[in-house]
Amino acid sequence: MTEEFPQGKMPYEPEPFWRESTQVHSFSPLTIDTEVDVAIVGGGITGITTGYLLSKQGMKVAILEADQISNGTTGHTTAKITAQHGLVYDEFIQHLGEEKAKQYYQANADALDFIRKTVGELQIECDLTEEDAYIYAISDQYAKKVMKEYEAYQRLGIHSEFVDHIPFSIDIKGATVMKAQSQFHPLKYLKVLVDEIVKAGGEIYEKTTATDIDETTPKPMVITREGRRVTCKYAIACSHFPFFDGKGFYFSRLHAERSYILGITAKQDFPGGMYYSADSPTRSLRYTPMNDEKLILVSGDGHKTGQGTSTHKHYKALEQFAEDVLGIEEIKYRWSAQDLYTLDKVPYVGPITSNKPNILVATGYRKWGMTNGTAAAQLLADLVLEKENAYQELYSPSRFYADPSIKKFLTQNLDVAGHLIQGKIDIADKRIEDIGSDEGSVVVVNGKRAGCYKDKDGNINLVDTTCTHMGCEVEWNSGDRSWDCPCHGSRFSVTGDVLEGPAKKPLKKVDM
Ligand SMILES: Cc1cc2nc3c(=O)[nH]c(=O)nc-3n(C[C@H](O)[C@H](O)[C@H](O)COP(=O)(O)OP(=O)(O)OC[C@H]3O[C@@H](n4cnc5c(N)ncnc54)[C@H](O)[C@@H]3O)c2cc1C
Ligand code: FES
Repeated sequence: MTEEFPQGKMPYEPEPFWRESTQVHSFSPLTIDTEVDVAIVGGGITGITTGYLLSKQGMKVAILEADQISNGTTGHTTAKITAQHGLVYDEFIQHLGEEKAKQYYQANADALDFIRKTVGELQIECDLTEEDAYIYAISDQYAKKVMKEYEAYQRLGIHSEFVDHIPFSIDIKGATVMKAQSQFHPLKYLKVLVDEIVKAGGEIYEKTTATDIDETTPKPMVITREGRRVTCKYAIACSHFPFFDGKGFYFSRLHAERSYILGITAKQDFPGGMYYSADSPTRSLRYTPMNDEKLILVSGDGHKTGQGTSTHKHYKALEQFAEDVLGIEEIKYRWSAQDLYTLDKVPYVGPITSNKPNILVATGYRKWGMTNGTAAAQLLADLVLEKENAYQELYSPSRFYADPSIKKFLTQNLDVAGHLIQGKIDIADKRIEDIGSDEGSVVVVNGKRAGCYKDKDGNINLVDTTCTHMGCEVEWNSGDRSWDCPCHGSRFSVTGDVLEGPAKKPLKKVDM
């Protein structure tokens, strides 16, 4: 076990294994106006797969990426490719009906098949293996739920079994197994799709942030922060949080949750399989090959963005779990990321609002975006190519919400209102002098609340902690050294620049 580290300090940089083990492409920013058939904003699994599918059909695409491609949530995932998405199928049968529950399963099973087929066709070396996916319970309460989930699998015809033990020293009360799922190295896979896009004449621009869509022109124009324009027949927001709202009020229908990942080598051999705990706090396990060793990804401890305890406590909890279950040899990696949740747990994929058929969006995968993002890309491509797609209605962002979801919608917005008020009345008790090297905290400056980060050379960055989206108060995230908003999940760098939306403007600077 590693030693305790004080809050605000990390023993090493949070860098995911996937990026370190792949030679990723780099692309220049967009410096001139351009015209394409389809402008795709965001270079994660959704944007890249959509770009690949459309360029294969002869469409000219441009991908605009604010940072570097595959460095968003996709670069920080655990990359299980499965239709087992926690405990959902029993709930879907209750709330959406058996047909929609079956469709959701089928959309994700089709996406898994698509990934396998693409890996075969393009001969991609991406450590793709077939694995069973387990969801297990450790309490009596969750044992009942896991059994109900198994019964739902039976109703939906999902190839599965129920077992009473898993190959770890975890005392479980039962597990539902979805047979023959998969895992892979997501960046090795996406790198080849990127090659295919480029070969087909597709344009990819990095360090190019889309800020708006001009809808007043005959064709939509995506506008970048530098004022460049991309004219297109279709504009698609694959930007994780939609960069353009179009009066779809996505901020009130999505919330962000962060999770933590350790990459460890273990004393015990990892037996294969992908594991997920039904009980909270969640725990997830899979391995991936690393040279001649197995790197085991131990993840979980999720919470709403900006509402967790100190980051090191989350890593510590995972470390304790890994030690108990596998025996840690070495912690090689540590990283965290967030994903977006919709009101009814089904992603939003399709026209951004019902009256804007050529502005499309895909978001809200609930930490299951390898299959959902791939299914989304197939649906987006079909919408552009005007082809039928069996899952259009299921994923429609304009779908009707039944009562339970609306209740949740209200609770979620009350929660936001609570944070708006709570953040303002929380009094900071720290001053700039109290902050150590490479630490951040909310402090009092000239009698007012401010966010302070002191870098390793002692330079001080002060920001206004009022989120530029809708005015909630951001909180310090010591693991990633960022300011995170508890309301809709925006994140800002130590200097206040936007790392993740919905916020578009940086935090204001504060003078000493
Ligand atoms: C900890 C964790 C573990 C996970 N594990 C799994 C798993 O095991 N299996 C699974 O299926 N799913 C998993 N997921 C979920 C999955 O990783 C995500 O759902 C998926 O990667 C999202 O892909 P995306 O393309 O929508 O978004 P991203 O990969 O985030 O891509 C969006 C891109 O858009 C860019 N962007 C944003 N705004 C703009 C703008 N204005 N202009 C230009 N570009 C912009 C961003 O920089 C980013 O690169 C996990 C998620 C987390 C957080
Ligand atoms: S993200 Fe909405 S107020 Fe901060």
